Amino acid sequence: MITIHERRFVLSTKENTLLLRVNEADKLVCDHYGRRIEESDLEACAIPAGMPAGRQVIYDETKSKKISLGMIAAEYGTPYKGDYLSPMLDLTSDKGRVYDFVFVEAKIRPMEPMIGYPTPRGASEELVVLTRDEKMGAELELHYVVYEDADVIGKFAVLRNTGEEDFTIRKIMSSQFCLQDAGYTIHGNYGNWAGEFQRNETLIGHYRYEFGSDTGSSGDQHNPFFMIKRTHSTLTTGSVYGFNLIYSGSHRAIVEMDSFGMIRVQQGISPQGFEKVLHPNEEFMTPMAVLTYTHNGLNGICDHFHRFVNDHVIPENFAYKPRPIAFNNWEGTYMKFNEGKLKSLAKTAAEIGCELFVLDDGWFGHRDDETSSLGDWNLYKKKLPHGIEGIAAYVHKLGMKFGLWFEPEAISPDSDLAREHPDWAIQDGVHDPSLGRYQQILDLTKPEVRDFIVEAVAQHLRTGVIDFVKWDYNRTFSDLPQSGSFCHDYILGLYDVVGRLTKEFPDVLFENCASGGGRNDLGMFSYFPQGWVSDDTDAFERAKMQMEMAFGYPPSVMSNHVSAKTNHQMLRKTSFGTKFDVAAIGVLGYEMNLNDADPIDIKEFKNQIEFYKANRETLQFGTYRLLDVFENGRQIVEMADKDRALVSYMNYLQNPHPGNETLPLTGLDPEAVYTYHVRPEVHSFKTFGSLINQVTPIHIKEEGALVNMLSRRRGLDAEGLHGEATGSTLNSGALQIGRQWAGTGYDESTRIMLDFGARIYVFERKK
Ligand code: GLA
Repeated sequence: MITIHERRFVLSTKENTLLLRVNEADKLVCDHYGRRIEESDLEACAIPAGMPAGRQVIYDETKSKKISLGMIAAEYGTPYKGDYLSPMLDLTSDKGRVYDFVFVEAKIRPMEPMIGYPTPRGASEELVVLTRDEKMGAELELHYVVYEDADVIGKFAVLRNTGEEDFTIRKIMSSQFCLQDAGYTIHGNYGNWAGEFQRNETLIGHYRYEFGSDTGSSGDQHNPFFMIKRTHSTLTTGSVYGFNLIYSGSHRAIVEMDSFGMIRVQQGISPQGFEKVLHPNEEFMTPMAVLTYTHNGLNGICDHFHRFVNDHVIPENFAYKPRPIAFNNWEGTYMKFNEGKLKSLAKTAAEIGCELFVLDDGWFGHRDDETSSLGDWNLYKKKLPHGIEGIAAYVHKLGMKFGLWFEPEAISPDSDLAREHPDWAIQDGVHDPSLGRYQQILDLTKPEVRDFIVEAVAQHLRTGVIDFVKWDYNRTFSDLPQSGSFCHDYILGLYDVVGRLTKEFPDVLFENCASGGGRNDLGMFSYFPQGWVSDDTDAFERAKMQMEMAFGYPPSVMSNHVSAKTNHQMLRKTSFGTKFDVAAIGVLGYEMNLNDADPIDIKEFKNQIEFYKANRETLQFGTYRLLDVFENGRQIVEMADKDRALVSYMNYLQNPHPGNETLPLTGLDPEAVYTYHVRPEVHSFKTFGSLINQVTPIHIKEEGALVNMLSRRRGLDAEGLHGEATGSTLNSGALQIGRQWAGTGYDESTRIMLDFGARIYVFERKK
């Protein structure tokens, strides 16, 4: 809800209030953003102008002798009038560079779709605060959108040229927000290919911190999502602010603490290489930044942002729609496949219970490796003599959906497309363009290129045999042309392309991918309901990444695959059970040569899929809570809804002195009675090495032929755990789950977890 009290504006969500005020100097300031306040108490919350400190510039003595722009909690900052913190706007024209916007009026009006950008749905109204610099002929509109139930505020700005001369935008951020006091830590992420979403924490000192991406996409280096948390906040307690940007291009976050302990936070398009000339009567709109606040620690942020993404961002026809279990051939075959190989994989995938078969890279042009054919989206007949229709029909007959991989924004120099249209790839026209993964990027600022991409994909989708598209994007920008806002214009071009395709094919499920998680952001999720988290499918690495990503994004957007036992990226070996226990928190899939799997593995996959189908809604859309972190020796994640809770537990390193362990559950109905059990797992005989001889009548040689043969069919049942308890007892964290293996003996309750081993515990409400 939004209310206007003369020069004060109150924006309320379920738990929070954002209180804005126009001060005596006619500048918009933030008096409070945090827990809800009573509308009768607005005066008590007003930040006093105070006496300006030391060498401050007094902004306008005729309005107030106290106000210095360097000391107010400004909602927008412009330089050269006493505000020396990072400016939200940096403008210049022949007239000069001092732009001084003052309040004109504020209005509440129905929220309308933003032009050119994805707009989260379901906001009822927005507050628009108009400010103007009459002398420079410029207007700045600050927009505030309320997503009440999700406790999220959206912010964006519109800059208008109302004068008679051009001016240039060198920097324009979507949001500026000032926090009144110190004692906060930035909790963001860093990463790269195969290691996205690594935790990145910095205690905020008196510096300016700038992070983001200048790669042309939101990137895997620093996702636009980050938090600012009270330094002593925990998983469940303490003040935390969450920030994200609904944008897929180069972006920047700026966090700066001044000498007085005030923290200014900005989010927006990266100013690096951005320059936009605004002609008279033109305007520029920024993408939307989103902010949330909780006093319930990190899990509070998950709660708000998960609801926001599922309820407001994901395309409406996919909201809360169960996502299919995929089989993807990539790590199973890479590009070395033919129709026969695919068919036999599809057959096994259907047998274990997969619901979708995705044909990955290598089906088009003459693509046998990474060096050719991107752009030639016609069939590679040698591999698929019966066409896409042939393999799709086979897959459909097996009862699965059919999915196809594309990388539509890319072009290989060795392609007919490049030979026909040498000017379609991004290049500066001066230097030889640099390649990345042997490829270039198409120039999506050109309408004819966008039309080509839409048609290239649509011609396949129009056959009606493709139910799913994996949309990949495998390199970063280089060789930018002259145009001042090229990177930004590219992203608007991309939104045009994916907007047109998803509109024409509303029932096709698109999966977002950029060499893994190189562009998993709220912009892409506005069109594509799920994203491939990382090319690293190692269970331990994924558990860390999924956890960090889950602070900002719900498991329903995270696509995770169970892959080969010896992981291709880390060469780390973990059991299929463990891989499943991690991959199941989100959208499950399988990606390996299934036909190499042993009978015992096939049985395991069938059990996993049966389990996943029975619990899918909870695993994809349940309430996510992080219960413990690796620093404590284990990571525990809970997904719960009204009928059940599923708890994924991952061990850190095997400890020679394991203690008793309980599960710190939360969120179960205290009045209800639950039955509980651990999802059955099987240990390979090989786990025990030569120790197995302690229980076998004949001698078994470690790694010998006998143990190899036996292990293909049978294993040892892992510990059992089942019982019944009330929700209140379980919520108190009293449930004992048994000690881990300590090297001295073994009984039915001994948990053999190994390094990076996992389990899923199941709690079901008794009817
Ligand atoms: C990227 C993707 C992979 C796979 C390959 C195909 O790396 O992230 O999943 O699709 O491309 O080339």
